[in-house]
Formats: sequence, structure tokens, C-alpha cells
Amino acid sequence: MIYTNMDFNGKDILITGGAGFIGSNIAFYFQKNYPDANIVVFDKFRSGRTLGNGNPESFGHYKNLLGFLGTVISGDINCSSDLENLEKNYKFDYIFHEAAISDTTVSEQDLMISTNVNAYENLLKIAIKHKANMIYASSAATYGDSDRFEVGYESPNNVYGFSKLMMDNITNKYIKSGVDISIVGLRYFNVYGKGEFFKNKTASTVIQFGHQILGGNAPKLFEGSDKILRDFIYIDDVIQANILGCTPKKSGVYNVGTAKARSFQDISDIVQSELKTTYETLYIQNPFIGQYQFFTEANIETTKEFLGYEPQFSLEDGIKAYIPEIEKVYKIEVKKC
Ligand SMILES: NC(=O)c1ccc[n+]([C@@H]2O[C@H](COP(=O)([O-])OP(=O)(O)OC[C@H]3O[C@@H](n4cnc5c(N)ncnc54)[C@H](O)[C@@H]3O)[C@@H](O)[C@H]2O)c1
Repeated sequence: MIYTNMDFNGKDILITGGAGFIGSNIAFYFQKNYPDANIVVFDKFRSGRTLGNGNPESFGHYKNLLGFLGTVISGDINCSSDLENLEKNYKFDYIFHEAAISDTTVSEQDLMISTNVNAYENLLKIAIKHKANMIYASSAATYGDSDRFEVGYESPNNVYGFSKLMMDNITNKYIKSGVDISIVGLRYFNVYGKGEFFKNKTASTVIQFGHQILGGNAPKLFEGSDKILRDFIYIDDVIQANILGCTPKKSGVYNVGTAKARSFQDISDIVQSELKTTYETLYIQNPFIGQYQFFTEANIETTKEFLGYEPQFSLEDGIKAYIPEIEKVYKIEVKKC
């Protein structure tokens, strides 16, 4: 699907976090549709290291890039010499900044702020030097406990959401100062789709329920899941927003969702209906109460107006499109274990 008249062939494109879920999808989007684009993926990749919550320090995985023909750099956005390499040895037209601690349950505040906030500003300075338009990942977690999901109503309830809000504040400061690049922050809501398997426990519940069911088990949901509603957005719509973010009518921070809140119970029911099963649901206690969002629903009016964004996938459509991939990953990665 082509979302713009812009021709990216011959353009130099940096994707930080390109070995992760969303970054690898951006990389393949350009490779498929603009085969002469020069695509550089920069990612820390995963090591054996874990954080206090037991999850990997970074989720990048080489398997997300199988078939990728561009340049791959293993590096850390917190490392000044790695950033100097990007600044001095390349000249980018667009920077898609997806690298981050994407795990909302990480509690190491120091690492979260340096990785998500400080490194972003350093990359923004490179974008300005290169005259590269910046499109970066913010998050619906900026809204936290808020009941209004539009810019100006943020209330993060964990350090992850706080870090993304600080990125957006930096953005507003640079836009106000009159930089001559466009800067677009995309507040993704709950994203699901191909390429998320290697996020382990932090992958969406769509694939988690899918794999529980394919393994012959009842889907495990938090208690009260019919009343926990989120705006779930399919990966293709997130790619659409990123591509449109290259040529915004106005720099700024925009929501990327469907504008329709749906429940986790809905996901489980749709996945069961797609897989033609009728398991009883297994309810478990929610360990994240206090720093958990019980309702999100994107207001996408400004995203429509200034980016031309129009989501294409309802939850039913997105899950239907995703099911063959869920089955494939189950066969290749789960069943063999
Ligand atoms: N998936 C979602 O639902 C969602 C929702 C809102 C916002 N986001 C944001 O979107 C972006 C992409 O998320 P994702 O879902 O693809 O997660 P992901 O974890 O798969 O991708 C992030 C990538 O960044 C890399 N990375 C982490 N620390 C790094 C470092 N110090 N230096 C270089 N690379 C590093 C990881 O290895 C990983 O490949 C993130 O900024 C995330 O916070 C995602």
C-alpha cells in the first residue's frame, strides 16, 4: 500500500530500533515499495542482559530482519561514539526513531530517562544537522490516568509514560525555536501485528491469546477484562502514520489509534472466533494496578487534519489479517520448543 506521492527512492533513511517490532516493519515497507532507498537500521539488539522485572534489556532480534537488504548497525543510542558515527559517516533525509525501552513495566528510572529522553534529543540534533525530517515514537502511555486522549491532557502513571511525555516536550521546544526540519511525534496506542513475537511477555495480547489457544489452552485474561478498554491499532495503520509523518502539514505530536476503545475480552473472543475455538476464559489477577491504563481511546482529529491519516483496520479486520502470521510463528517458534 502506498500512502503518499513522495518518492523515497534514492533517499537515505535511518531507522533506530529497526530490529524491533515497529522499526522492522518500517524498514520492510521502504524496501518493498522503494527498492532504491538507502535504509540503515541501527539497533542495540538483544543480549543476555535483563532488567529488574526479569525482561530483556532490549528486544531487537535478527529474525525480524531476515530478508532485509539494507545496512544493519549494532549500536546503542546512549553511546556518544555510536551517535557520532551516524552523524559523521552518513547523511540522512529521514530519521524514524523507534529505539527505546519499550517495556512499560521497567522501573529503572535512570536508564529509562537516558534511553528514551536524552538520547532522543541527541538524535534530534543530528537530524537538524543533516536536515533530516524526524518521525519518532511517542506513546498513549503519556495519557496514563487521563480521561481525555488529546494533546494537553497528559497524566502518565509510570516512568515509561513520563519519558515519552518528556520527548514530546523536547519536540515542542525545538518546533517553537523554528528549526528547518519537520518533527512529528506519533503517540501510538496499543499496537499489534507481525514482528512482535520477540517482545516476549510485552507483545500484544492478540498474539499471546492466539498462542495460548493454539497450544490447546484457555486464553488468560486479567479479571474484569470486559471492562478494560484500549484503542488497539494494527501495524499497517502505524506504518501509514509514519509515512505520512514524513510530509506533515504541521510539525507536532499526534495520536495514532483507531478512535474506538475495545476490551481485552473482545480480543480474546475475536481470536477464538478466528481460530474456531470455544474455550472458557481463565481470569488472573492484574499485578499492574496503580500503573495500568483501564481505558484509552485516541482522539485522531488532528492526525487526520495535519497528516492525512485515516485508519483502515477495525479490531476484527486487523486480527483477521494477522491470524496466518500468528499461526506461522506458533509453528516455527513455539511448537518446536
Ligand atoms: N508496540 C506498541 O504498542 C507501542 C505503543 C506505544 C509506543 N511504542 C513505541 O514505539 C517504539 C517501537 O516499539 P516496538 O513495539 O517496536 O518495541 P521494540 O522493543 O520491539 O522496539 C524497540 C527497539 O529499540 C531497540 N533499543 C532499545 N534500546 C536501545 C538502545 N539503547 N540503543 C539502540 N537500540 C535500542 C530494541 O533492541 C528494539 O529493537 C518504541 O519507542 C516504543 O516505546 C510502541
